[in-house]
Amino acid sequence: MSVLLLGGTAEARELAAALVAAGIAVTTSLAGDVAEPRLPDGEVRVGGFGGAEGLARYLREHDISAVVDATHPFAARISANAAQACATTGVPLLRLERPGWSQRPDASGWHWVDCLDDARTAAEALGNRVFLAVGRQELGTFAGWADRYVLARVVDAPDIEVPGTWEVLRARGPFRLADELDLLASRAIDVLVTKDSGGATDAKLDAAAQLGVRVVAVRRPQPPAGVPVVETVDQALAWLARG
Ligand SMILES: NC(=O)c1ccc[n+]([C@@H]2O[C@H](COP(=O)([O-])OP(=O)(O)OC[C@H]3O[C@@H](n4cnc5c(N)ncnc54)[C@H](OP(=O)(O)O)[C@@H]3O)[C@@H](O)[C@H]2O)c1
Repeated sequence: MSVLLLGGTAEARELAAALVAAGIAVTTSLAGDVAEPRLPDGEVRVGGFGGAEGLARYLREHDISAVVDATHPFAARISANAAQACATTGVPLLRLERPGWSQRPDASGWHWVDCLDDARTAAEALGNRVFLAVGRQELGTFAGWADRYVLARVVDAPDIEVPGTWEVLRARGPFRLADELDLLASRAIDVLVTKDSGGATDAKLDAAAQLGVRVVAVRRPQPPAGVPVVETVDQALAWLARG
Protein backbone atom coordinates (compact mmCIF):
# COMPACT_ATOMS: atom_id res chain seq x y z
CA MET A 1 0.00 0.00 0.00
CA SER A 2 1.25 3.46 -0.87
CA VAL A 3 -0.62 6.44 0.57
CA LEU A 4 -0.53 10.02 -0.67
CA LEU A 5 -1.39 12.35 2.19
CA LEU A 6 -2.32 15.90 1.25
CA GLY A 7 -1.06 17.80 4.27
CA GLY A 8 -0.30 21.16 5.80
CA THR A 9 -2.19 20.48 9.05
CA ALA A 10 -1.46 19.03 12.49
CA GLU A 11 -3.76 16.07 11.87
CA ALA A 12 -1.94 15.24 8.63
CA ARG A 13 1.33 15.09 10.60
CA GLU A 14 -0.35 12.88 13.21
CA LEU A 15 -1.64 10.52 10.53
CA ALA A 16 1.76 10.39 8.79
CA ALA A 17 3.41 9.41 12.09
CA ALA A 18 0.84 6.67 12.70
CA LEU A 19 1.28 5.27 9.18
CA VAL A 20 5.06 5.25 9.47
CA ALA A 21 4.76 3.49 12.84
CA ALA A 22 2.51 0.90 11.20
CA GLY A 23 5.05 0.32 8.41
CA ILE A 24 2.80 1.78 5.68
CA ALA A 25 4.49 3.79 2.93
CA VAL A 26 3.27 7.39 3.05
CA THR A 27 4.22 10.52 1.17
CA THR A 28 2.96 13.82 2.55
CA SER A 29 2.44 16.57 0.02
CA LEU A 30 2.90 20.19 1.11
CA ALA A 31 1.96 23.23 -0.96
CA GLY A 32 5.27 24.94 -0.24
CA ASP A 33 3.91 28.33 0.81
CA VAL A 34 5.19 28.18 4.41
CA ALA A 35 8.88 29.11 4.67
CA GLU A 36 9.77 26.62 7.42
CA PRO A 37 6.99 24.04 7.62
CA ARG A 38 6.78 21.51 10.42
CA LEU A 39 7.82 18.36 8.62
CA PRO A 40 5.94 15.08 9.10
CA ASP A 41 7.41 11.59 9.44
CA GLY A 42 7.77 9.64 6.20
CA GLU A 43 8.44 10.92 2.71
CA VAL A 44 7.65 14.54 1.85
CA ARG A 45 7.12 16.24 -1.50
CA VAL A 46 6.65 19.99 -1.86
CA GLY A 47 4.78 22.14 -4.40
CA GLY A 48 1.63 22.09 -6.51
CA PHE A 49 0.84 19.21 -8.87
CA GLY A 50 -0.44 21.36 -11.72
CA GLY A 51 -4.19 21.12 -11.10
CA ALA A 52 -6.37 18.00 -11.06
CA GLU A 53 -4.74 16.66 -14.21
CA GLY A 54 -1.26 16.96 -12.73
CA LEU A 55 -2.42 15.24 -9.56
CA ALA A 56 -3.99 12.40 -11.58
CA ARG A 57 -0.69 11.97 -13.41
CA TYR A 58 1.17 11.86 -10.11
CA LEU A 59 -1.18 9.17 -8.75
CA ARG A 60 -0.58 6.97 -11.81
CA GLU A 61 3.17 7.53 -12.01
CA HIS A 62 3.69 6.77 -8.32
CA ASP A 63 1.26 3.87 -8.19
CA ILE A 64 -0.65 5.45 -5.30
CA SER A 65 -3.23 3.09 -3.76
CA ALA A 66 -5.12 5.62 -1.59
CA VAL A 67 -5.26 9.37 -1.05
CA VAL A 68 -6.11 11.06 2.25
CA ASP A 69 -6.94 14.73 1.88
CA ALA A 70 -6.03 16.15 5.29
CA THR A 71 -5.56 19.72 4.06
CA HIS A 72 -6.94 22.71 5.94
CA PRO A 73 -10.76 23.10 5.87
CA PHE A 74 -10.35 26.33 3.86
CA ALA A 75 -7.98 24.85 1.25
CA ALA A 76 -10.90 24.25 -1.11
CA ARG A 77 -9.03 24.16 -4.41
CA ILE A 78 -6.70 21.27 -3.58
CA SER A 79 -9.65 19.33 -2.12
CA ALA A 80 -11.63 19.82 -5.33
CA ASN A 81 -8.59 18.77 -7.37
CA ALA A 82 -8.15 15.64 -5.25
CA ALA A 83 -11.81 14.70 -5.77
CA GLN A 84 -11.49 15.14 -9.53
CA ALA A 85 -8.13 13.34 -9.83
CA CYS A 86 -9.29 10.38 -7.76
CA ALA A 87 -12.54 10.11 -9.71
CA THR A 88 -10.53 10.07 -12.96
CA THR A 89 -7.99 7.47 -11.81
CA GLY A 90 -10.23 5.33 -9.56
CA VAL A 91 -7.90 5.81 -6.59
CA PRO A 92 -9.90 5.76 -3.30
CA LEU A 93 -10.06 9.16 -1.57
CA LEU A 94 -10.82 10.02 2.05
CA ARG A 95 -11.27 13.51 3.48
CA LEU A 96 -9.89 13.97 7.02
CA GLU A 97 -11.35 17.21 8.37
CA ARG A 98 -11.22 18.21 12.00
CA PRO A 99 -14.48 19.39 13.56
CA GLY A 100 -15.18 23.10 13.39
CA TRP A 101 -16.02 25.37 16.27
CA SER A 102 -19.72 25.85 15.54
CA GLN A 103 -20.74 23.47 18.36
CA ARG A 104 -18.96 25.53 21.01
CA PRO A 105 -21.49 26.92 23.51
CA ASP A 106 -20.44 30.50 22.74
CA ALA A 107 -20.54 30.08 18.93
CA SER A 108 -24.26 30.86 18.73
CA GLY A 109 -23.40 34.40 19.87
CA TRP A 110 -20.80 34.92 17.14
CA HIS A 111 -21.40 36.78 13.89
CA TRP A 112 -21.27 34.05 11.24
CA VAL A 113 -20.48 35.04 7.64
CA ASP A 114 -19.85 33.18 4.38
CA CYS A 115 -16.72 34.91 3.13
CA LEU A 116 -13.89 37.24 4.07
CA ASP A 117 -15.54 40.25 2.41
CA ASP A 118 -18.59 39.77 4.62
CA ALA A 119 -16.29 39.35 7.62
CA ARG A 120 -14.81 42.77 6.90
CA THR A 121 -18.26 44.39 6.71
CA ALA A 122 -19.41 42.66 9.91
CA ALA A 123 -16.25 43.59 11.84
CA GLU A 124 -16.54 47.24 10.75
CA ALA A 125 -19.94 47.42 12.40
CA LEU A 126 -18.76 45.79 15.63
CA GLY A 127 -15.63 47.58 16.76
CA ASN A 128 -12.47 49.55 16.07
CA ARG A 129 -9.63 47.44 17.41
CA VAL A 130 -9.51 44.20 15.49
CA PHE A 131 -7.59 40.98 15.95
CA LEU A 132 -7.25 39.37 12.51
CA ALA A 133 -6.56 35.64 12.83
CA VAL A 134 -7.33 34.65 9.26
CA GLY A 135 -3.92 33.77 7.84
CA ARG A 136 -1.43 35.69 5.76
CA GLN A 137 -3.10 35.04 2.41
CA GLU A 138 -6.35 36.75 3.44
CA LEU A 139 -4.93 40.03 4.73
CA GLY A 140 -5.47 41.82 1.41
CA THR A 141 -9.23 41.80 2.03
CA PHE A 142 -8.65 44.10 5.03
CA ALA A 143 -5.87 46.26 3.59
CA GLY A 144 -8.21 49.28 3.35
CA TRP A 145 -8.33 49.48 7.14
CA ALA A 146 -5.80 52.27 7.52
CA ASP A 147 -8.05 54.09 10.02
CA ARG A 148 -7.93 51.57 12.88
CA TYR A 149 -5.66 49.45 14.98
CA VAL A 150 -5.34 45.90 13.63
CA LEU A 151 -3.43 43.06 15.21
CA ALA A 152 -2.60 40.59 12.41
CA ARG A 153 -1.16 37.30 13.60
CA VAL A 154 0.60 35.29 10.90
CA VAL A 155 3.18 32.49 10.60
CA ASP A 156 5.15 34.09 7.76
CA ALA A 157 5.51 37.79 7.00
CA PRO A 158 2.61 39.27 4.96
CA ASP A 159 3.25 39.62 1.23
CA ILE A 160 1.30 42.88 1.10
CA GLU A 161 2.33 46.19 2.58
CA VAL A 162 0.10 46.60 5.63
CA PRO A 163 -1.18 50.01 6.81
CA GLY A 164 0.86 51.85 9.43
CA THR A 165 -1.90 51.44 12.02
CA TRP A 166 -1.43 47.65 12.02
CA GLU A 167 0.69 45.49 14.28
CA VAL A 168 1.94 42.29 12.66
CA LEU A 169 2.69 39.50 15.10
CA ARG A 170 4.54 36.48 13.74
CA ALA A 171 3.75 33.37 15.75
CA ARG A 172 2.69 29.78 15.23
CA GLY A 173 0.04 28.06 17.39
CA PRO A 174 -1.19 26.37 19.42
CA PHE A 175 -1.36 29.19 21.98
CA ARG A 176 -2.02 29.16 25.73
CA LEU A 177 -5.14 30.77 27.16
CA ALA A 178 -3.15 32.94 29.59
CA ASP A 179 -1.10 34.36 26.70
CA GLU A 180 -4.18 34.95 24.57
CA LEU A 181 -5.88 36.78 27.44
CA ASP A 182 -2.79 38.99 27.83
CA LEU A 183 -2.62 39.64 24.10
CA LEU A 184 -6.27 40.62 23.66
CA ALA A 185 -6.38 42.70 26.85
CA SER A 186 -3.08 44.52 26.27
CA ARG A 187 -4.23 45.61 22.78
CA ALA A 188 -7.77 46.45 23.96
CA ILE A 189 -9.14 44.27 21.17
CA ASP A 190 -12.90 44.58 20.68
CA VAL A 191 -13.40 42.32 17.61
CA LEU A 192 -11.80 39.03 16.63
CA VAL A 193 -12.05 37.81 13.02
CA THR A 194 -11.39 34.11 12.46
CA LYS A 195 -12.10 31.33 10.02
CA ASP A 196 -13.95 28.30 11.42
CA SER A 197 -10.71 26.36 11.21
CA GLY A 198 -11.30 24.10 14.20
CA GLY A 199 -8.49 22.42 16.07
CA ALA A 200 -6.01 23.56 18.63
CA THR A 201 -5.85 27.29 17.88
CA ASP A 202 -9.00 27.85 19.91
CA ALA A 203 -7.52 29.49 23.02
CA LYS A 204 -8.13 32.87 21.36
CA LEU A 205 -11.84 32.04 21.33
CA ASP A 206 -11.85 31.21 25.03
CA ALA A 207 -10.01 34.46 25.68
CA ALA A 208 -12.51 36.40 23.55
CA ALA A 209 -15.39 34.82 25.47
CA GLN A 210 -13.86 35.74 28.83
CA LEU A 211 -13.13 39.32 27.80
CA GLY A 212 -16.42 39.97 25.99
CA VAL A 213 -14.66 40.44 22.64
CA ARG A 214 -17.04 40.05 19.70
CA VAL A 215 -16.25 37.26 17.25
CA VAL A 216 -16.76 37.26 13.49
CA ALA A 217 -16.44 33.69 12.18
CA VAL A 218 -16.19 32.69 8.51
CA ARG A 219 -18.09 29.49 7.69
CA ARG A 220 -16.21 26.67 5.98
CA PRO A 221 -16.51 26.11 2.25
CA GLN A 222 -18.55 23.05 1.25
CA PRO A 223 -16.43 19.90 0.82
CA PRO A 224 -16.54 18.20 -2.60
CA ALA A 225 -19.64 16.02 -3.01
CA GLY A 226 -19.37 12.25 -2.83
CA VAL A 227 -16.10 12.07 -0.87
CA PRO A 228 -16.28 10.17 2.45
CA VAL A 229 -15.32 12.38 5.41
CA VAL A 230 -13.89 11.45 8.82
CA GLU A 231 -12.95 13.73 11.70
CA THR A 232 -10.15 11.88 13.47
CA VAL A 233 -6.83 10.23 12.69
CA ASP A 234 -8.07 6.93 14.18
CA GLN A 235 -11.04 6.95 11.80
CA ALA A 236 -8.69 7.59 8.88
CA LEU A 237 -6.48 4.67 9.96
CA ALA A 238 -9.55 2.42 10.15
CA TRP A 239 -10.61 3.47 6.63
CA LEU A 240 -7.13 2.69 5.28
CA ALA A 241 -7.09 -0.68 7.09
CA ARG A 242 -10.35 -1.64 5.38
CA GLY A 243 -8.41 -1.17 2.13
N1 LIG B 1 -6.27 28.04 3.62
C1 LIG B 1 -5.90 28.09 4.91
O1 LIG B 1 -6.50 28.84 5.73
C2 LIG B 1 -4.78 27.22 5.41
C3 LIG B 1 -4.44 27.28 6.78
C4 LIG B 1 -3.43 26.45 7.27
C5 LIG B 1 -2.78 25.58 6.42
N2 LIG B 1 -3.13 25.53 5.09
C6 LIG B 1 -2.42 24.58 4.23
O2 LIG B 1 -1.72 25.34 3.27
C7 LIG B 1 -1.76 24.70 1.99
C8 LIG B 1 -2.27 25.66 0.94
O3 LIG B 1 -3.55 26.11 1.32
P1 LIG B 1 -4.41 26.99 0.29
O4 LIG B 1 -5.63 27.43 1.02
O5 LIG B 1 -3.53 27.97 -0.42
O6 LIG B 1 -4.81 25.84 -0.75
P2 LIG B 1 -5.78 25.89 -2.05
O7 LIG B 1 -6.22 27.28 -2.29
O8 LIG B 1 -6.80 24.83 -1.87
O9 LIG B 1 -4.79 25.38 -3.18
C9 LIG B 1 -4.13 26.25 -4.09
C10 LIG B 1 -3.13 25.42 -4.86
O10 LIG B 1 -2.00 25.11 -4.03
C11 LIG B 1 -1.56 23.79 -4.30
N3 LIG B 1 -1.69 23.00 -3.07
C12 LIG B 1 -2.48 23.26 -1.99
N4 LIG B 1 -2.28 22.35 -1.03
C13 LIG B 1 -1.35 21.49 -1.51
C14 LIG B 1 -0.74 20.34 -0.97
N5 LIG B 1 -1.01 19.90 0.27
N6 LIG B 1 0.19 19.70 -1.75
C15 LIG B 1 0.49 20.15 -2.99
N7 LIG B 1 -0.07 21.24 -3.55
C16 LIG B 1 -0.99 21.90 -2.81
C17 LIG B 1 -2.39 23.26 -5.44
O11 LIG B 1 -1.67 23.59 -6.63
P3 LIG B 1 -1.81 22.73 -7.98
O12 LIG B 1 -3.15 23.03 -8.51
O13 LIG B 1 -0.67 23.20 -8.79
O14 LIG B 1 -1.67 21.27 -7.57
C18 LIG B 1 -3.67 24.06 -5.31
O15 LIG B 1 -4.38 24.18 -6.50
C19 LIG B 1 -2.62 23.46 2.15
O16 LIG B 1 -1.76 22.33 2.19
C20 LIG B 1 -3.35 23.65 3.46
O17 LIG B 1 -3.54 22.43 4.16
C21 LIG B 1 -4.10 26.34 4.58
